[in-house]
Amino acid sequence: MTTSVERSKSAVAESFSRAAKSYDSAAQLQRDIGTDLFKLLPVNASPQTVVDIGSGTGFFTGKLKQVYPQAMVCGLDLAQGMLRYARSQHPASLAWLGADMESLPFAEASIQLFFSSLALQWSEDLPAFFTEIYRALAPGGLIALATLGPNTLFELRDSWRQVDGFTHVNQFAHAEEVRAAAGQAGLQEQRWVNGEKVMHYDALRDLTHELKAIGAHNVNRARAPGLTGREKLIKLRTSYEAYRQPAGLPATYEVYWMLLQRPE
Ligand SMILES: C[S@@+](CC[C@H](N)C(=O)[O-])C[C@H]1O[C@@H](n2cnc3c(N)ncnc32)[C@H](O)[C@@H]1O
Repeated sequence: MTTSVERSKSAVAESFSRAAKSYDSAAQLQRDIGTDLFKLLPVNASPQTVVDIGSGTGFFTGKLKQVYPQAMVCGLDLAQGMLRYARSQHPASLAWLGADMESLPFAEASIQLFFSSLALQWSEDLPAFFTEIYRALAPGGLIALATLGPNTLFELRDSWRQVDGFTHVNQFAHAEEVRAAAGQAGLQEQRWVNGEKVMHYDALRDLTHELKAIGAHNVNRARAPGLTGREKLIKLRTSYEAYRQPAGLPATYEVYWMLLQRPE
């Protein structure tokens, strides 16, 4: 019997697998957020093993190998389609692992550095994730993480609210929830940065196409069943227009970047 968590995880994996080929061309926001995350990484460190959690197409996995050429660098992802694509795009010096970030296939205290950009928001169980990270990190080891906060896509969420009562936009954990789960697992906060990225689109369909191309369209369980009616879409478009700025329709992403350490 499959549980609802397993069903929802397989929906996430399928959605990202389908998006593997279109992801890189539509992922400017992801590029910006991951590039900012590199600024939190220790420059003088020489970790033996580095793991990119939720590595997707492997863009940042390759960059990690450039920063830490001596390290064994591995990309880990739930979506087999993403892993296949990443493997085909990168040199054989990188390793790829199919696994769930809430149940890591690593021995206790075996990893010096985890990197994870925009995967944590897919976690169904933050305490399980951070407990696993703590277990697998070597004492003194670090995890650099970027994830999304609850204000993300508020324009789209508020516009949908004027159309119907269903959940159309993924819901994201608040900073305090993330901090509490990390702290309870025993991880110490070295850095925490809050920020906001605003993208602009000519039309609403440009935003929804992009969300689909990066596999990030809504997989919440309370989402509206079936197709979205034409009338609803017209209403949604009209509501969203109220947010229009000279640069276009804004889509706000609330971002948390953090560097956490397993104490020595
Ligand atoms: C938005 S993409 C980010 C990819 C890459 N880090 C980047 O910044 O371009 C999120 C990735 O997390 C993966 N993911 C989602 N849930 C996961 C889980 N439970 N375990 C491992 N990977 C997961 C997805 O398959 C997807 O490839």
